[in-house]
Amino acid sequence: MRVVLGIETSCDETAAAAVLDGRRALSNVIASQVAVHRAHGGVVPEIAARQHLDAIADVAERAVAVLPEGFRGVEAVAATYGPGLAGALLVGLSYAKALALALGVPFLGVHHIEGHLFSTAFEYGDWDYPALGLIVSGGHTDLFYIPAPLTYERLGRTRDDAAGEAYDKTARRLGLGYPGGPILDRLAQVGRADRAPLAYRPPLIPDAPYDFSFSGLKTAALRYIREREVASLPEGLSQEAALAQASDDIRDLAASFQRAVVSTLIGVLERAIEACRPRLVVTGGGVACNSALRQALAELAQRKGVEIRVPRPIYATDNAAMIAAAGYARLARGERHDWSLEPAPSLRLDGAPPPSGLTYSGLT
Ligand code: KG4
Ligand code: ZN
Repeated sequence: MRVVLGIETSCDETAAAAVLDGRRALSNVIASQVAVHRAHGGVVPEIAARQHLDAIADVAERAVAVLPEGFRGVEAVAATYGPGLAGALLVGLSYAKALALALGVPFLGVHHIEGHLFSTAFEYGDWDYPALGLIVSGGHTDLFYIPAPLTYERLGRTRDDAAGEAYDKTARRLGLGYPGGPILDRLAQVGRADRAPLAYRPPLIPDAPYDFSFSGLKTAALRYIREREVASLPEGLSQEAALAQASDDIRDLAASFQRAVVSTLIGVLERAIEACRPRLVVTGGGVACNSALRQALAELAQRKGVEIRVPRPIYATDNAAMIAAAGYARLARGERHDWSLEPAPSLRLDGAPPPSGLTYSGLT
């Protein structure tokens, strides 16, 4: 088994990718719904499911078009089965199961976060253990201890907002549209953090030194906007227009906000590196595209003498190549799922049940 077709529909990207040997992305097709959800300021679950349904067959066909035999060249199918939006997951999972059944090839459901942990597979070699894995996205901010292949212990998680969610909510308040991360990142690069001091310090949560929290930062940013009367941009501008029209106040706030997000993430990761002495750190998730975070991770790697792998942006945000890569690692060990596998919206990677009351939501 060499060619795995990955399918990903957990949130707002319909994605399919053909990956060779878990390492070479032969195709990586992503149909983004961002433009549809933008009008609502965040992901609307029902709309996401409907969009997936419209797009999935075409996206999968495009992904296998690179194979000389098309669908017949697919040797196994791997699809995200959780966590994520239930209706959205159902579309990709059902499609993947039906396809595997029709082709007579093995099928495996993949944990979305395990997929993100494999997003550096296309540019780097084997892992050294123990490793740490930091996933920072719109739905998750998780830190894992990885003592051996495919074995995960969650060291920390966000207590409230995910890092990307904090970006999205702050951007929305400023009229910068959705998603907020990329535009705030670009504005931060031309702003001055020292001109927008925020009433915020990275939290150290007693008894949970590897947990994150971003709601305090979000509140500090919102309070700053209110007290300094930072004017938000008119709704509905394109991202280019918003970039051009953003005031110095918005730019400076973006820089200050970004500095705070990065120092929160780096502070926790640095503590974990000191405690766990990993031989490798892997990162993933949309926020791993962030320019300041990438630079800070490179500096941290230098300072601590540990390799920190950061995916290329196209593999950092949601995609199916990472799902195929994670699926390949498990399929190669003989793991399979049968046709009874259902979507698991609150699935945890370390096997523990989800904390009560905490379910994944793509809404921002
Ligand atoms: O991994 P992803 O595509 O989806 C989830 O699994 O959530 O991550 C999307 C998130 C959004 O919140 C988006 O604002 C954020 O990643 N993001 C960024 C950047 N690019 C995307 N955040 C900060 N800086 C960026 N350059
Ligand atoms: Zn994701």
